[in-house]
Amino acid sequence: MMVQQYTRTAIWLHWSIAILLLSQFAFGWYLQEIPRGVPERSYFVNLHKSTGILIGLLILVRLGWRLAHKPPPLPDTIPRFQQRIASATHILLYVLMIVMPLSGYIASNFSKWGVKFFNVITFPPWGFEDKFIYAVFNQTHKVASWLLLVLIILHVLAGLKHLFIDRDRVFSRMLPRCFPER
Ligand code: HEM
Ligand code: HEM
Repeated sequence: MMVQQYTRTAIWLHWSIAILLLSQFAFGWYLQEIPRGVPERSYFVNLHKSTGILIGLLILVRLGWRLAHKPPPLPDTIPRFQQRIASATHILLYVLMIVMPLSGYIASNFSKWGVKFFNVITFPPWGFEDKFIYAVFNQTHKVASWLLLVLIILHVLAGLKHLFIDRDRVFSRMLPRCFPER
């Protein structure tokens, strides 16, 4: 069966962002282990903010690229409702991928700290210090992280179902060409 693949750019963006995003999750959880008020915390929080901003920019590039390029159609053998669920999940993944870095960035600009980029360049906050606004965006950052995680787990389970149960080559649409056809 002929199944159209994603382009090399789409595949590269998908896997690099997947790895960076999952590492950023681990970094976020690690932050929770560092007690508040110790100097190391501000070092690691600024590092998390800096890597988060760079990942956010890469996500914007991906979104822009995706809006300009239609994905290859799924094979007709996939039922319509399943195709709709897949599209809805992908849209939600994009929304949450934007909400994550954006909420962290906005929260940081409503605290007196702003962002010290890689602990070297200080970006003074463009907002004002406001505990309520900070709390709203900080809470959005936390809730979005859990929603995104649940969605990623469902997304991975769906991918593995195609790979091991359906064996319909949908999985290979997102695999680099160097992998054997699956
Ligand atoms: C941080 C983790 C991940 C995120 C945010 C993510 C996000 C996405 C998005 C948004 C798409 C749709 C691409 C488009 O049409 O523009 C997609 C497709 C895909 N992803 Fe992921 N993904 C992640 C991890 C994974 C992992 C670990 C797997 C392996 C099981 C995987 C397998 C796939 C496959 C096979 C497709 C193509 C689906 C199709 O053919 O329609 N993804 N992913
Ligand atoms: C790129 C995507 C990002 C991901 C996946 C991510 C993920 C996380 C996670 C999982 C946490 C722990 C949440 C919890 O307490 O349950 C966290 C905390 C945090 N993130 Fe991010 N983050 C990202 C980007 C950013 C950015 C761009 C900023 C700011 C510029 C930022 C600022 C923060 C701060 C300040 C905390 C600590 C919040 C607290 O302990 O009160 N994050 N992040």
